[in-house]
Amino acid sequence: MKRYILLSAILFLQQTLHAQKSKFNKGWLFRVDTANYWDDRDIWDRKPVPVTLPHDWNIELPFEQFSPSGNRGAALRGGLGIYEKKFTLSETDRNKNIFIIFDGVYMNSTVIINGQTLGNRPFGYISFEYDMTPFLKFDGTENHLMVRVENKQPNSRWYSGSGIYRNVWLDKRGPMYVKNWGTYVTTPVVQHDKAEIKVITTVVSQHIQKDCHLKTSLLGPSGQIIATRSDTIPSFTGTMELMAQFKVSNPTLWSTQQPGLYKIISEITSGKNILNSYHTAFGIRNFAFSQQTGFTLNGEHMKIIGTCMHHDLGALGVAINTAAMERQLRILKDMGINGIRTSHNPPAPEWLDLCDKMGFLVMDETFDVWTWDKENTPFNYNLYFHQWYQRDLTDHIVRDRNHPSIIMWSIGNEIPEQHGSGADTLGRKITRSLVNIIKNLDPTRAVTAGLNFANNTNNMYLSDALDIIGVNYHHREWKDLGSTLFNSTKPYLLSENTSALATRGHYDFPSDSIRRWSGFTTSRPGGNANFTCSSLENCSAPWASTNEEALKLFLKYPFLSGMYLWTGFDYLGEPTPYPYPARSSYFGVVDMAGFPKDAYYLYKSIFTRDTVLHILPHWNWQTKQRVDVHVYYNMADEVQLFLNGRSIGKKKKVGDDLFVRFNGITFEPGQLKAVSRYRGKKIAQQVVNTAGAPYQLIASVERSDIQANGEDLNFVKVAIVDKAGNIVPNADHTLQFDISGPGNIAALDNGSQTDLEPFSNKKFRKAFNGLGLAIVKSTQQAGTIYLRITAQGLRPAAVALKSVK
Ligand code: GAL
Repeated sequence: MKRYILLSAILFLQQTLHAQKSKFNKGWLFRVDTANYWDDRDIWDRKPVPVTLPHDWNIELPFEQFSPSGNRGAALRGGLGIYEKKFTLSETDRNKNIFIIFDGVYMNSTVIINGQTLGNRPFGYISFEYDMTPFLKFDGTENHLMVRVENKQPNSRWYSGSGIYRNVWLDKRGPMYVKNWGTYVTTPVVQHDKAEIKVITTVVSQHIQKDCHLKTSLLGPSGQIIATRSDTIPSFTGTMELMAQFKVSNPTLWSTQQPGLYKIISEITSGKNILNSYHTAFGIRNFAFSQQTGFTLNGEHMKIIGTCMHHDLGALGVAINTAAMERQLRILKDMGINGIRTSHNPPAPEWLDLCDKMGFLVMDETFDVWTWDKENTPFNYNLYFHQWYQRDLTDHIVRDRNHPSIIMWSIGNEIPEQHGSGADTLGRKITRSLVNIIKNLDPTRAVTAGLNFANNTNNMYLSDALDIIGVNYHHREWKDLGSTLFNSTKPYLLSENTSALATRGHYDFPSDSIRRWSGFTTSRPGGNANFTCSSLENCSAPWASTNEEALKLFLKYPFLSGMYLWTGFDYLGEPTPYPYPARSSYFGVVDMAGFPKDAYYLYKSIFTRDTVLHILPHWNWQTKQRVDVHVYYNMADEVQLFLNGRSIGKKKKVGDDLFVRFNGITFEPGQLKAVSRYRGKKIAQQVVNTAGAPYQLIASVERSDIQANGEDLNFVKVAIVDKAGNIVPNADHTLQFDISGPGNIAALDNGSQTDLEPFSNKKFRKAFNGLGLAIVKSTQQAGTIYLRITAQGLRPAAVALKSVK
């Protein structure tokens, strides 16, 4: 009994003195004015609504043809938002330093505590913190926190979302503490049998304190403590850097296949008390880029097969959700992707944590504009660049530099200042300045940029400051790299490529006539009346290429160290090549709902060892229509195609072929069957049947159970099938979703780029090309969530989802 009391007393002591960083997401009140030109006085007449963060106030608004953001902003408005939160503190907090951390607010936020302005941050993607201590009340009376957010459109080339869309943290730190993002872990020696680890910890102390120690513990990938050391902290005020070093034998090297993570726990102790505790995950790995051999990770040569990703989570908007981010990354990983470019801005911290855990090679990008305007976005960050770039870039690098997944920093995407003549242009000066900032903060990583001005007068190239020459597009000129174009000794990377356009399940014949649509956002010359793009590798943006075209060249040139495909998923906004009602992009190899388009299987067949045999298109055409059939396959050396049991022929990939084509087949209803063989032995078989009349709904669930934490998600795919279970390719019935039990529908989607049903509708959504999606969110309560899906004239579907504590 005595022991128990003693133990709990110690725990209590430790907890009260211990730093506490906790989510500060609940209990906010929100007012919004979605007019683009607002009058502050009006917003206070609006009724506040309770919200839980992360929150995106745009996503459930109606789509509007003349929204100030245009359809490149997903036809959703921005406006002015005011968030307020009241909270109390007690006497036990009085001697602490109380900080508030925002992982990201879009954009132009001003934070005010008890009437005192703490600061303003224009950049919508940067993380920042404020020390609230001097303005707080600790006597149990209410503190009033207010965050004002301005999103005046157009300020973005894509859907930005609006509001406090990432986590907010309240961080109560003891009298001496580790600064936020105050550890920097590097690995000066990395070998298969040994590694050395160097930890620099920045400690803050506001007044002289004696007998304090920094205890630094190194934990291995399975959580075991490998070593601990304790260093006396000299008495000081202000900030001080302390260094600790460790040696590890036979380290687990972080890789894309086995992304083992180590951890540093930094504790500041005073006698038996822990004043502050700070955790840093990191990895032990080394990498190198070379012009001749490309990229190596831990000494092994590999190609970076990456995709660019915007920050939105489809129908959920930009409010971050770890389950939704993890799903995007898992789908991409299964396709053979090992890299992510955070286009074109600092991502959510949780995104990088996932990239660390799942093994992605990240190009972490800071800016899409510097000082010059881009594509007529008059309220873009370029207005603030001069005043803020040093601070924003510094905060970005310092926040992210412990992530093993990050191998490169990108200082900008298609920055207009690449252009301009003269000896020392803005483009050259700013490039040098940004690279310099980064090298001072993190000399361990390469710096690159997405250059789309493929010309030797490119100022960013001429600055000679970039470590890697990142090339956006210009696939026809890749052959000239290192000779007539950017003749340098530096490594080359496709920082962005492809921009193929496709609508899931839509096919235009003939497949060998390629459409490169330049309609952009205002017209649709040559486009389809229903605003679709073809998935038969015959559609791309005019400055770009199909997947097939880019991939063939990428695979041909060994000096290309990697590529970042535009894009992994379709995203909100930038619906090239169509005007409104198109409101989301066509670039993804996966649609916005997370359903793979056909090209997904092309990449999978090339970049994974999973057996792939994929036939496209579907098999519901007009009798006698000429149909081009493509087959993506791997692990085999030929494919035979059968129509209703008759052989159509055998084909092999020859030369640089990436797949086989059986073009011009005269359609007849029935069954198309592909058989792949290796040296005559059957490897796989795949069939596509002509679907009959829509008969029933089939629902399938992605996860066996989810956490009952009010945040976790399950994804329910609904297919409209015929009596035999074949998906009906063009079915677009209105689906009705009824949910009961401890869960809610967070959003409904279908992957259509033109569906104008607002995401506020959580009851009905049309299917698109046979499929629909429900995103179900848990509550705090465990139990079984029942989801019933119905559609007129079809047999319904139902699923039971487990939510566990
Ligand atoms: C690139 C740009 C991307 C996206 C893409 C569409 O030039 O970097 O942000 O706009 O074009 O093809």
